[in-house]
Amino acid sequence: MTSARIPRTRSAGRPWATLLLLAAFPSSPALADEELSGSALALQMGCYNCHGKHPRHDAPTMAQLAEDAAKHRGESGAAAKEAQELRRGEPFRRIVAHEQLSAETAEKLMQWIIDGAKPTGNP
Ligand code: HEC
Repeated sequence: MTSARIPRTRSAGRPWATLLLLAAFPSSPALADEELSGSALALQMGCYNCHGKHPRHDAPTMAQLAEDAAKHRGESGAAAKEAQELRRGEPFRRIVAHEQLSAETAEKLMQWIIDGAKPTGNP
Protein backbone atom coordinates (compact mmCIF):
# COMPACT_ATOMS: atom_id res chain seq x y z
CA MET A 1 0.00 0.00 0.00
CA THR A 2 2.94 2.36 0.32
CA SER A 3 4.41 4.29 -2.54
CA ALA A 4 7.54 2.16 -2.18
CA ARG A 5 5.70 -0.55 -4.09
CA ILE A 6 5.32 1.50 -7.25
CA PRO A 7 8.83 0.87 -8.66
CA ARG A 8 8.24 -2.85 -8.48
CA THR A 9 5.26 -2.55 -10.79
CA ARG A 10 7.10 -0.35 -13.23
CA SER A 11 10.16 -2.57 -13.38
CA ALA A 12 8.26 -5.66 -14.44
CA GLY A 13 8.11 -5.07 -18.18
CA ARG A 14 11.80 -4.99 -19.00
CA PRO A 15 12.21 -5.62 -22.70
CA TRP A 16 15.70 -7.02 -22.19
CA ALA A 17 14.29 -9.81 -20.06
CA THR A 18 12.60 -11.15 -23.17
CA LEU A 19 15.84 -10.98 -25.08
CA LEU A 20 17.66 -12.87 -22.35
CA LEU A 21 15.00 -15.52 -22.38
CA LEU A 22 15.13 -15.82 -26.15
CA ALA A 23 18.85 -16.38 -25.82
CA ALA A 24 18.18 -19.07 -23.23
CA PHE A 25 16.36 -21.24 -25.74
CA PRO A 26 18.50 -21.15 -28.86
CA SER A 27 17.29 -24.53 -30.04
CA SER A 28 13.56 -23.85 -29.87
CA PRO A 29 12.15 -23.30 -33.31
CA ALA A 30 9.45 -20.96 -32.00
CA LEU A 31 8.68 -19.38 -28.70
CA ALA A 32 4.96 -18.89 -28.90
CA ASP A 33 3.38 -19.28 -25.46
CA GLU A 34 1.25 -22.17 -26.54
CA GLU A 35 4.27 -24.29 -27.37
CA LEU A 36 5.74 -23.97 -23.92
CA SER A 37 4.34 -25.34 -20.72
CA GLY A 38 5.17 -25.68 -17.06
CA SER A 39 8.44 -24.22 -15.86
CA ALA A 40 9.57 -23.38 -19.40
CA LEU A 41 6.49 -21.21 -19.83
CA ALA A 42 7.01 -19.63 -16.40
CA LEU A 43 10.60 -18.93 -17.33
CA GLN A 44 9.64 -17.37 -20.62
CA MET A 45 6.95 -15.24 -19.01
CA GLY A 46 9.47 -13.90 -16.50
CA CYS A 47 7.81 -15.39 -13.43
CA TYR A 48 11.16 -16.49 -12.00
CA ASN A 49 12.46 -12.94 -12.16
CA CYS A 50 10.51 -12.35 -8.98
CA HIS A 51 9.45 -15.82 -7.83
CA GLY A 52 12.82 -17.53 -8.29
CA LYS A 53 15.18 -18.93 -5.69
CA HIS A 54 16.19 -15.42 -4.77
CA PRO A 55 12.82 -13.72 -4.80
CA ARG A 56 12.59 -10.06 -5.64
CA HIS A 57 10.24 -7.32 -4.54
CA ASP A 58 9.22 -9.40 -1.52
CA ALA A 59 7.54 -11.90 -3.82
CA PRO A 60 7.01 -15.44 -2.55
CA THR A 61 9.18 -18.14 -4.14
CA MET A 62 7.59 -20.42 -6.74
CA ALA A 63 7.72 -23.21 -4.15
CA GLN A 64 5.79 -21.06 -1.71
CA LEU A 65 3.22 -20.18 -4.37
CA ALA A 66 2.82 -23.88 -5.16
CA GLU A 67 2.43 -24.76 -1.50
CA ASP A 68 -0.26 -22.15 -1.13
CA ALA A 69 -2.02 -23.13 -4.36
CA ALA A 70 -1.97 -26.84 -3.49
CA LYS A 71 -5.20 -26.39 -1.59
CA HIS A 72 -6.94 -26.02 -4.96
CA ARG A 73 -5.62 -29.30 -6.31
CA GLY A 74 -8.39 -31.36 -7.86
CA GLU A 75 -10.86 -28.48 -7.61
CA SER A 76 -12.48 -28.03 -10.99
CA GLY A 77 -12.21 -24.54 -12.44
CA ALA A 78 -9.72 -23.44 -9.79
CA ALA A 79 -6.92 -22.65 -12.24
CA ALA A 80 -9.21 -20.45 -14.33
CA LYS A 81 -10.49 -18.63 -11.25
CA GLU A 82 -7.04 -18.09 -9.78
CA ALA A 83 -5.77 -16.98 -13.19
CA GLN A 84 -8.49 -14.38 -13.40
CA GLU A 85 -7.61 -13.05 -9.96
CA LEU A 86 -3.95 -12.98 -10.83
CA ARG A 87 -4.57 -10.95 -13.99
CA ARG A 88 -6.95 -8.59 -12.26
CA GLY A 89 -4.56 -7.83 -9.43
CA GLU A 90 -5.33 -5.41 -6.66
CA PRO A 91 -5.63 -1.66 -7.01
CA PHE A 92 -2.60 -0.88 -4.87
CA ARG A 93 -0.61 -3.95 -5.67
CA ARG A 94 -0.36 -3.93 -9.39
CA ILE A 95 2.10 -6.35 -10.96
CA VAL A 96 2.46 -5.85 -14.68
CA ALA A 97 3.86 -9.34 -15.25
CA HIS A 98 0.59 -10.72 -13.87
CA GLU A 99 -1.71 -8.32 -15.65
CA GLN A 100 -0.24 -8.75 -19.09
CA LEU A 101 -0.76 -12.51 -19.19
CA SER A 102 -3.42 -13.75 -21.57
CA ALA A 103 -6.29 -15.62 -19.94
CA GLU A 104 -5.05 -18.82 -21.53
CA THR A 105 -1.42 -18.45 -20.45
CA ALA A 106 -2.41 -17.41 -16.94
CA GLU A 107 -4.62 -20.47 -16.61
CA LYS A 108 -1.88 -22.80 -17.83
CA LEU A 109 0.55 -21.30 -15.35
CA MET A 110 -1.93 -21.46 -12.48
CA GLN A 111 -2.70 -25.11 -13.25
CA TRP A 112 1.02 -25.84 -13.23
CA ILE A 113 1.47 -24.00 -9.91
CA ILE A 114 -1.54 -25.78 -8.38
CA ASP A 115 0.03 -29.07 -9.48
CA GLY A 116 3.23 -28.25 -7.59
CA ALA A 117 5.21 -25.98 -9.96
CA LYS A 118 7.63 -28.77 -10.81
CA PRO A 119 10.44 -28.15 -13.26
CA THR A 120 9.32 -29.73 -16.51
CA GLY A 121 12.45 -29.91 -18.59
CA ASN A 122 10.42 -28.65 -21.52
CA PRO A 123 11.62 -27.62 -24.04
C1 HEC B 1 7.76 -7.96 -10.81
C2 HEC B 1 7.81 -9.12 -9.95
C3 HEC B 1 6.87 -10.28 -10.28
C4 HEC B 1 6.83 -11.01 -11.44
C5 HEC B 1 7.65 -10.85 -12.69
C6 HEC B 1 5.80 -12.03 -11.22
N1 HEC B 1 5.26 -11.90 -9.98
FE1 HEC B 1 3.84 -13.08 -9.14
N2 HEC B 1 3.86 -11.96 -7.45
C7 HEC B 1 4.73 -10.92 -7.20
C8 HEC B 1 4.49 -10.42 -5.86
C9 HEC B 1 5.23 -9.25 -5.19
C10 HEC B 1 3.45 -11.20 -5.32
C11 HEC B 1 2.81 -11.07 -3.96
C12 HEC B 1 1.57 -10.24 -4.11
C13 HEC B 1 0.88 -10.02 -2.83
O1 HEC B 1 1.34 -10.46 -1.78
O2 HEC B 1 -0.19 -9.38 -2.89
C14 HEC B 1 3.09 -12.17 -6.33
C15 HEC B 1 2.12 -13.12 -6.17
C16 HEC B 1 1.84 -14.12 -7.08
C17 HEC B 1 0.87 -15.17 -6.87
C18 HEC B 1 -0.01 -15.34 -5.65
C19 HEC B 1 -1.35 -14.72 -5.90
C20 HEC B 1 -1.41 -13.35 -5.43
O3 HEC B 1 -2.02 -12.51 -6.14
O4 HEC B 1 -0.90 -13.03 -4.34
C21 HEC B 1 0.89 -15.96 -7.97
C22 HEC B 1 0.05 -17.19 -8.23
C23 HEC B 1 1.88 -15.40 -8.86
N3 HEC B 1 2.44 -14.30 -8.30
C24 HEC B 1 2.20 -15.94 -10.08
C25 HEC B 1 3.08 -15.36 -10.98
C26 HEC B 1 3.30 -15.88 -12.32
C27 HEC B 1 2.63 -17.11 -12.90
C28 HEC B 1 4.22 -15.06 -12.89
C29 HEC B 1 4.77 -15.13 -14.31
C30 HEC B 1 3.83 -14.74 -15.33
C31 HEC B 1 4.55 -14.01 -11.93
N4 HEC B 1 3.84 -14.23 -10.79
C32 HEC B 1 5.45 -12.98 -12.16
C33 HEC B 1 5.67 -10.41 -8.07
C34 HEC B 1 5.90 -10.86 -9.36
